[in-house]
Amino acid sequence: MAKEPVRVLVTGAAGQIGYALVPMIARGVMLGPDQPVILHMLDIPPAAEALNGVKMELVDAAFPLLKGVVATTDVVEACTGVNIAVMVGGFPRKEGMERKDVMTKNVSIYKSQASALEKHAAANCKVVVVANPANTNALILKEYAPSIPEKNITCLTRLDHNRALGQISERLNVQVCDVKNVIIWGNHSSTQYPDVTHATVKTPAGEKPAPELVADDAWLKGEFISTVQQRGAAIIKARKLSSALSAASSACDHIRDWVLGTPEGTWVSMGVYSDGSYNVPAGLIYSFPVTCCNGQWTIVQGIGSANNWILIAMWANFFACYEQSLTSRPFHVPGLSIDEFSRKKLDLTAEELSEEKALAYSCLS
Ligand code: NAD
Ligand code: LMR
Repeated sequence: MAKEPVRVLVTGAAGQIGYALVPMIARGVMLGPDQPVILHMLDIPPAAEALNGVKMELVDAAFPLLKGVVATTDVVEACTGVNIAVMVGGFPRKEGMERKDVMTKNVSIYKSQASALEKHAAANCKVVVVANPANTNALILKEYAPSIPEKNITCLTRLDHNRALGQISERLNVQVCDVKNVIIWGNHSSTQYPDVTHATVKTPAGEKPAPELVADDAWLKGEFISTVQQRGAAIIKARKLSSALSAASSACDHIRDWVLGTPEGTWVSMGVYSDGSYNVPAGLIYSFPVTCCNGQWTIVQGIGSANNWILIAMWANFFACYEQSLTSRPFHVPGLSIDEFSRKKLDLTAEELSEEKALAYSCLS
């Protein structure tokens, strides 16, 4: 029997990420090749004509999964009944600007869109915030939409995660799909910590720790980290526009894994509401390693540093997730090992997020 269509909201749909993202959603890249969708596209009045052009192109592309398109500048119409919300709308960073520079404009947008989502979206709507400062916009959205469960509000750090996979794959000259379990900790900003301590690579001789194969601690602790941290700025410098196709593709990855589940033995990075895991201050939207099943994300916990302990941790998560789906009780097991180098990096990016949070509140008061 054909599935009921899922309603997917894309804000800022007339912009460059929107233009890359909506055809991906309509082709089933986000929710699967058998899941019909109805696209809700929101933009602001000056972009209404361009938005209508995108709608015309969606019609012309004759996507079999696309069962309807709502293109509007009315936030209530856009949010009504949506099951998934991809929040891209906002002002992008230009060359030479830090994410903090776009804070004032964007947090007020997220404050006002929070109440529209809260009042009009479907119950249990899943939200991913893409627009920068993504973590803090998501936090503001969460704070001003108190009836949306906090587990339903996330931000996109999957692009950074994918960038880290790409750097390791290029360095080792292996397929990117053979690299897994990198972690992006913290903010989607230049303080983020791309961590390969627990990453592995599939080789003909089995799965090997990525740091062992790279065998260059100086590169892993230096150039690798700064390349991933600065990749967004490098793309802005090269394109004179911020990343769009990779951002759109990563947003699809984020929602797909959240809704359909992460592959066994694999985690991904998502910006989620901190519960204090890994001594990250509670009350920030912070990027953690997560596994997903039954439409729920769970921060990866684990024990010890050796790979067999990681496997035990993954199984512990699997069973905990299963148990949670039966009982809806929260669970905690100790975290993945964090060495001194990593600890400092986790704390640094948390500090930046605390500062951003304070700045966001001062912009809104
Ligand atoms: P863009 O300027 O091309 O598009 C943004 C769109 O948002 C425009 O069409 C604009 O009219 C619209 N918009 C502005 N205010 C709005 C509002 N109140 N409601 C609805 N729409 C509104 O920008 P882009 O390149 O598509 O980037 C969008 C955002 O995504 C930027 O903030 C950018 O920094 C961010 N970004 C995040 C990531 C990530 O990984 N988290 C990656 C790339 C870009
Ligand atoms: C990116 O990471 O590509 C985006 O967040 C663009 C930016 O503002 O750096």
